[in-house]
Amino acid sequence: MHSDPPETRDALGRALRDLRISVTDRCNFRCPYCMPAELFGEDHKFLPRPEILTFEEITRLTRLFVGLGARKLRVTGGEPLVRAELPKLIRSLSEIPGVEDLALTTNGSLLPLHAGKLADAGLRRVTVSLDALDEEVFRQTSGSPHPPSRVLQGIEAAAAAGMGPIKVNCVVQRGVNEDEIVPLARHFRGTGHILRFIEFMDVGTRNRWELTKVVSAKEIIERIQAEFALEPVGANYDGEVARRWRYVDGAGEIGVITSVTNPFCSGCTRARLTADGELVTCLFANSGLDLKQPLRDGADDEELLRLIRGTWGGRRDRYSEERAAIGKAERPERIEMYRVGG
Ligand code: GTP
Ligand code: 5AD
Ligand code: SF4
Ligand code: SF4
Repeated sequence: MHSDPPETRDALGRALRDLRISVTDRCNFRCPYCMPAELFGEDHKFLPRPEILTFEEITRLTRLFVGLGARKLRVTGGEPLVRAELPKLIRSLSEIPGVEDLALTTNGSLLPLHAGKLADAGLRRVTVSLDALDEEVFRQTSGSPHPPSRVLQGIEAAAAAGMGPIKVNCVVQRGVNEDEIVPLARHFRGTGHILRFIEFMDVGTRNRWELTKVVSAKEIIERIQAEFALEPVGANYDGEVARRWRYVDGAGEIGVITSVTNPFCSGCTRARLTADGELVTCLFANSGLDLKQPLRDGADDEELLRLIRGTWGGRRDRYSEERAAIGKAERPERIEMYRVGG
């Protein structure tokens, strides 16, 4: 019998539909907008192992979120593939009744090693971050020990394992990789993969964000239009973050994520769980609700549900819309991107 999902609405009437699960705060890249190398060197203290939720703990909490209406799960990091035995977690998450979509966001560099095992474990969708094809620009934007070809191999490995079409996310920064927009579009046209450009956001406090560094979705589309004719396409589902466009000649689609110039908070149904067990209700929150402590103190499901429902019920976050209204970003303490996984 079909039953509608339960509804857990926040103070602005938004349901809880998505859970983004960060499984580690570590990463093998050092993108300057996320983990600048000068701040995340050898001596940086990542979360100690005991602070990180076990797979059993993540699965238990996820079941509770699904019980409250979450239908889409996305595993993130840091870089989720640096967490040992990730396919085991994927298997457990994929077996939770009620989960309709299970995806992973990765920098792609470890996919050549893990794509097959992840697909076997039940992963159906992968999103890969790639900010440049040019080797030098890629080195600057990613701080990666690998060349961009390694990420391209990762994308192909994921597609070969049956997880295509692959979404490829490019964060565009003025003066850094804006000249990569057209080459990336050209590269992925006709491959079946879906390239999405993300407006550079003021997440965290360390990425020296300024409005002048944002390249608007409008400009991104104009740059591509100058080479290849595009037309807009409607959303796949309510609350879709990316605006879709397709090549008029049938070579596929691209997307733009307009978090800065056209924020989408009113449809934001996303909860985030950090690697150390905090529930975060906005990418721009300054703190979260600790679920690990009560979990480890022996709280029963009812008690944990009460905590999650209480936090979601009080949620009023609409940071991107407020930033658009103020016109510039205030800089209070804020959670960092590598803790909430985008
Ligand atoms: P699917 O449509 O399910 O494939 O995923 P998605 O479009 O939500 O894509 P993804 O999760 O890869 O999000 C793409 C990027 O959009 C993220 O990496 C963030 O940079 C940005 N983003 C996603 N969710 C939010 C959000 O709630 N707020 C803001 N401001 N940005 C977001
Ligand atoms: N603005 C926009 N996107 C960002 N990401 C990381 N930091 C930012 C930012 N400041 C993206 C990553 C990756 C995803 C997890 O979030 O490039 O695609
Ligand atoms: Fe790593 Fe992703 Fe952060 Fe880059 S954006 S440092 S790949 S977690
Ligand atoms: Fe959701 Fe916060 Fe992003 Fe708005 S700024 S869409 S409330 S995560």
